[in-house]
Amino acid sequence: MAKLELRGVNKAYGKTIAVQDINLVIEDNEFFCIFGPPSCGKTTILRLLLGLVAPDSGDILIGDKLVSEASPKDRNLAMVFQNLALFPHMTAGQNLAFPLVERKLDKAEVQARVQAVAETLHIEALLNKLPAHLSGGERQRVAVGRALVREPAAFLMDEPIAALDARLREEMRVELKRLQREMKHTLVYVTHDQEEAMAVADRMAIFEAGGIRQIGTPDQIYNHPSSRYVAELIGSPPMNFIDGSFDPSQGRFDCREFDFSMGFPGASGNGVVAASVAFRPEDIVLHDAAGGQGQIEANVYEVEPLGAFTIVDVNIGERILKVQAPGQPRYQLGQVIRLGLDPGKCHLFNAETGKVQ
Ligand SMILES: Nc1ncnc2c1ncn2[C@@H]1O[C@H](COP(=O)(O)OP(=O)(O)OP(=O)(O)O)[C@@H](O)[C@H]1O
Ligand SMILES: [Mg+2]
Repeated sequence: MAKLELRGVNKAYGKTIAVQDINLVIEDNEFFCIFGPPSCGKTTILRLLLGLVAPDSGDILIGDKLVSEASPKDRNLAMVFQNLALFPHMTAGQNLAFPLVERKLDKAEVQARVQAVAETLHIEALLNKLPAHLSGGERQRVAVGRALVREPAAFLMDEPIAALDARLREEMRVELKRLQREMKHTLVYVTHDQEEAMAVADRMAIFEAGGIRQIGTPDQIYNHPSSRYVAELIGSPPMNFIDGSFDPSQGRFDCREFDFSMGFPGASGNGVVAASVAFRPEDIVLHDAAGGQGQIEANVYEVEPLGAFTIVDVNIGERILKVQAPGQPRYQLGQVIRLGLDPGKCHLFNAETGKVQ
């Protein structure tokens, strides 16, 4: 397995900039996720790595070797495409064998490798079936298997399980993670499902409009988003934001909508700037109104009991915040409560640049 690298890579299709100034190192044996909204350039990154399109500028390296000019065949990467194209006239077994037959491996070896991959993916019973006679989940396994029979430098997977139902997706992502760890693959995995990316990635890159906004472990991305864009994208329910201004001479944020201020001694800047404070729904503690604890007074607006936890929407005037409370607390709609925020878990973003202040 190999390390993959893009250095200063740009690619446009006519006037559409697909990706710009991409600098990315994917380490050997890493499960690396590319995450971002539709059309942000995720598939383009895989196509550039695979050699299906050439960069307009910049370099692509596989295992420290420059491959920008090399044909896809010479790059030896295995890809699972976004639309899982299996050959409809071939059985699952023939589909699995295809990359090996194409490379003219001898029959016994093809047979042995197909068998081994089929066992790993628990699809031995499907080998004689045509794709049309398989369920979505089964087809997906065969498509992944067709990549696994090879011994490539790295695997590229483009939303390989996006078409499956939620329960099956959760099962498959655990299985892929386990396979990747056991077989020591370098795996570049594209998804637009933030929970999936968080669950499987060793590291991930967050894309916006063809550019990388942040690279880090799921823990770094979740707990230390470097911009409001990343903070808004990751986490469900999403982060809460309240708007106001930050005065670096005092080290204080003042909310402009209601009576609330908070110290950010670590933040810097020149002069007072428009800013937002952000905090996650699970980082708010709800207190009774009478106890005097907590910094903000609010009213209960809506309650969604979800079993293990409850989402409580609260309003402060017009502003609605989401709170994730453990268990199944009981609240009356309209009830006055107080919100406790831990300053250590609050983030301060500059309103103009969107970056951490
Ligand atoms: N062959 C092409 N010709 C012209 N424009 C293209 C081509 N391929 C991609 N694009 C454009 O480049 C941009 C990035 O496309 P890309 O397929 O990489 O996005 P993506 O992040 O994979 O999106 P999705 O989540 O919808 O799969 C889009 O604006 C798209 O319209
Ligand atoms: Mg895509």
